Amino acid sequence: MSHPMSIVIKNAEDIAAMRVACRLASEVLDFIAPHVAPGITTAELDRLCHDYMVNVQGTIPAPLNYAPPGYSPYPKSICTSVNHQVCHGVPGERALKKGDILNVDITVIKDGYHGDTSRMFLVGGESAVSIQAKRLCNITWECLWLGIEQVKPGARLGDIGAAIQRHAEVNGFSIVREFCGHGIGKKFHEEPQIVHYGKPGTGVEIHEGMIFTIEPMINAGRAAISELPDGWTIITKDRSLSAQWEHTILVTPSGYEVLTLSDGSPPPPAFVKTKIAA
Ligand code: MF3
Ligand code: CO
Ligand code: CO
Repeated sequence: MSHPMSIVIKNAEDIAAMRVACRLASEVLDFIAPHVAPGITTAELDRLCHDYMVNVQGTIPAPLNYAPPGYSPYPKSICTSVNHQVCHGVPGERALKKGDILNVDITVIKDGYHGDTSRMFLVGGESAVSIQAKRLCNITWECLWLGIEQVKPGARLGDIGAAIQRHAEVNGFSIVREFCGHGIGKKFHEEPQIVHYGKPGTGVEIHEGMIFTIEPMINAGRAAISELPDGWTIITKDRSLSAQWEHTILVTPSGYEVLTLSDGSPPPPAFVKTKIAA
């Protein structure tokens, strides 16, 4: 979606604006969390989020009418991916059921800057969801944070992908290859691409001032995907469950800052020793 190697290094003004946009994106997830329950449709979740973004936050929902080359304009304001849907699930009249797993992916634009984050929800609560589904969501959460912990100046993008891939695969899961994290700022999707597999010590070097997302999509079964006729919703080919979590990350002089945090953000896994400020 942009020329190779056009990685934007953010200045102090960009970073201040990105902190705001990213916190707001996370606050949309805080807002919608109590509404995620059996019986609600994904279109209703979309409408609630849209109105919150536009009328309460004064943000623009970035997905609405987003049309990268080769895609029809995205018709909704959020992405809702249920069970075997991997990503870019288009909200519709499907009502959530007890035991579903749901990813809600929010991207807002505030003062020209994008914040992008997603979380998994267990519909009906912990006890309603299968052990396998919970395990998939938890391992994917750990994968995200193992990737985040690789982020520091001088490391390479392959270090992030390798950490994620290793943890997913030792647990018997597979990594979706066709979709990846991305640089983000004044544009929704910028260079570089952050793939969620790879080899340590390979790929583009990470520099202070880069901002990018990490957003692993991990399948309980095989890695292969297909696209629904709506032109957007991605599903697993074998209809196995899929999970995804996403944060937007700033590269700091000594490591990383997670920008998409808010009061309702789940705490990082216990292995994360760095202090994470919300
Ligand atoms: N939020 C997604 C991402 O993390 C992109 C969604 S594109 C849309 O990159 F058009 F489907 F919204
Ligand atoms: Co993203
Ligand atoms: Co996203």
